[in-house]
Amino acid sequence: MRKIIIDTDPGIDDALAILLALSAREELDVLALTTVNGNVDVEKVTKNAFKILDVAGRTDIPVYKGNRKPLMRENSMPADCHGDDGLGNIGVAESAGVPEEESAADFLIRKVREEKGEITLVPIGPLTNIAEAVQKDPAFVKNVKEVVIMGGAVHEGNVTPYAEFNFWVDPEAAKIVFQAGFEKIVMVGLDATKHVWLNPALRELLYQINTPVSRFIHKVTRVYADAHWRQHQKLGSELCDVLVTAYLLDNGVIDTIDAFVDVETQGLCEGASVVYPVMKYKDKMKNCEVAVNADTGRFFEIFFGYLFPEYLDTVKKMQG
Ligand code: BDR
Ligand code: CA
Repeated sequence: MRKIIIDTDPGIDDALAILLALSAREELDVLALTTVNGNVDVEKVTKNAFKILDVAGRTDIPVYKGNRKPLMRENSMPADCHGDDGLGNIGVAESAGVPEEESAADFLIRKVREEKGEITLVPIGPLTNIAEAVQKDPAFVKNVKEVVIMGGAVHEGNVTPYAEFNFWVDPEAAKIVFQAGFEKIVMVGLDATKHVWLNPALRELLYQINTPVSRFIHKVTRVYADAHWRQHQKLGSELCDVLVTAYLLDNGVIDTIDAFVDVETQGLCEGASVVYPVMKYKDKMKNCEVAVNADTGRFFEIFFGYLFPEYLDTVKKMQG
């Protein structure tokens, strides 16, 4: 059983990543959610974290509120595809949940110290909390088992031609994390997540499955689909963060290369991840495994297989 802490800014695709993780009760032990400013402000994302736990019926999981702004700069623009409330403006019921007293970074530091070498960090928002923990506690990095990040891109960004949203919001934090010396980092960026495309037929299947969780996912992805149509005239939506959870359940869902990754913090390419494959750049030391592709069919078999196992065959048939 893998022990994980999800550091998140929910966020529609964050919600899916959390729900998938919670459905894998035998494989993943979700110790806590930590929240961070990103898709919307930290107050809203923290409320959203509780709403998602309510949908999943997992109010036993603690939530720790994190940073309200990036590490070294003022607040950035919110993302434009998650709705004003960060959860697609679909009127998800307010939750009674309240965050723990301890801050996200202090909790991360304490928890990985208590369970040295046991915990996988899963940041699916800007890396502010993780970088804060790196800076605050010299032992933090060595206490962490691995870090599996949604962020970055080898080729094309989504906020600028070069920068992916999570790194663009807090590039200094991302740089600190890649330079910190973690035993293992996996960067699941846009080169892989662009293959995780929820097409209209699969989305309709979620409606027909007709459980509270499937109807929630159907509803919450509406605003996402609208944004993709508005921006790219494509039917459906890309689901970024949830690929990280799928990877934790089946690492064959992505292809990776060994690389040295750095992050640009200034200028035209601010927020861009610069990926040097070590096969080619022999003078660079590997600090990361970078996802360069994802298997769409396998992803949806994992997604439906865990969340709605009785529909796995239907999904396999739909995918041919
Ligand atoms: C990332 O940006 C956010 O909008 C998503 O939640 C995801 O974490 C994708 O670039
Ligand atoms: Ca996110």
